[in-house]
Amino acid sequence: MLNSSRFLLFAVTVSSSLLLAACGGGGDAPAGDAATTDAAETPAAGGATDQLALGQTKYGQVCASCHMADGNGSPGVFPPLAGSEWVNGDPNVPISIVLHGLQGPIDVKGTRYEGAMQPWGMIPDSDIAAILTYVRSSFGNSSSAVTTEQVTAVRQAEGDRVAWTAEELKAKYPGS
Ligand code: HEC
Repeated sequence: MLNSSRFLLFAVTVSSSLLLAACGGGGDAPAGDAATTDAAETPAAGGATDQLALGQTKYGQVCASCHMADGNGSPGVFPPLAGSEWVNGDPNVPISIVLHGLQGPIDVKGTRYEGAMQPWGMIPDSDIAAILTYVRSSFGNSSSAVTTEQVTAVRQAEGDRVAWTAEELKAKYPGS
């Protein structure tokens, strides 16, 4: 009886000091992350290299979980951005998809996908421009950069709307 209550006391002491240690460690990590994010979000000169670096960071945070770090997606589930005709044509198409999302069947590089992508319009225009500039010039893609002004113009023109279908995008941007 005595032994077991001693053990209990010991266990409580150990676990509360572990808890304290965990809290201390947890407190430090977000502060470090915030400093890194701040640095990435305020590029010194706002040049092309900074936009690409920002785009790569944001792509990793937002898009890579589905489209993968190498842009190849996941066969039959998440379509590739590498070599995608939707990414590499008229920049208004990927801008529209990111702002408002996409649903229903879409053919990408000859494979049909029938899922849905949520809208990412809560991301600031400058970050969407950076992400799409990165996507359009990575994974073997070599399409033009996307400016913040282009994203803002599409956002204003499209206003509030539901997710696009591939058919609607083809009708709206026939050249792409
Ligand atoms: C949670 C998973 C998920 C995330 C995160 C995601 N997507 Fe998608 N994305 C999809 C799916 C699924 C489709 C296909 C939707 C369909 O079948 O209609 C798609 C389609 C697309 C397409 C058109 C098809 C193609 O492959 O070219 C583009 C462009 C695109 N996403 C870009 C992005 C970008 C940029 C981000 C980050 C801002 C992003 N996606 C984040 C799941 C995701």
